Amino acid sequence: MPSTVLILNGPNLNMLGTREPEIYGTETLADIEARCQRRARNLGLSVDFRQSNIEGELVGWIQDARQSAQGIIINAAAYTHTSVALLDALNACDMPIIEVHLSNIHQRESFRHKSYIARAADGMICGLGSLGYELALEAVAERLVKGK
Ligand code: DQA
Repeated sequence: MPSTVLILNGPNLNMLGTREPEIYGTETLADIEARCQRRARNLGLSVDFRQSNIEGELVGWIQDARQSAQGIIINAAAYTHTSVALLDALNACDMPIIEVHLSNIHQRESFRHKSYIARAADGMICGLGSLGYELALEAVAERLVKGK
C-alpha cells in the first residue's frame, strides 16, 4: 500500500487561474492537482487533494488525517495568517507536515509575513509557484523513507 499524502488548500485557491494571475500565475487548482498526482506516482505515493473555503472543514480533514494519511502538505492560504485552530489541529498530527505558498509571502504585505501554522510544519516552501507542491511531495517522501 502506498503512503497517502493529504494535500490541503485553503480559501480562494479554488479561483486559481483567474485570481490575481500576476501573483499566483495562470495554472488552475486542477492543473496543480494533476502535477501533484504525476509526481506522487513517480515517488510511489498516493495523494488526497482537497480545497475548502471553510476553516472548520480544513480542521476536520486534518483531524481525519491522523487515521487516513501519512503526511500533510498544506497551503492554508489566508488562514495561514490567522488560524490557531489549524495550528492546533496540525500539532495533533504526528507525521511529516510541509507548508506551501505559491507566492513569496515575505515579499508581500507585512500581515502575510506571519504564519501561525509554521510552528507545526517541518518546513515551508514559498515563492516557487506550483513547483513548491512537487518539492513538498519530495520532502514528505524522503521523510517517510527515513522514518522522520
Ligand atoms: C498564499 C499566500 C496567502 O497570503 C494568501 O492569502 C493566499 C495564497 C499563496 O499560496 O501564496 O491565498 O497562501
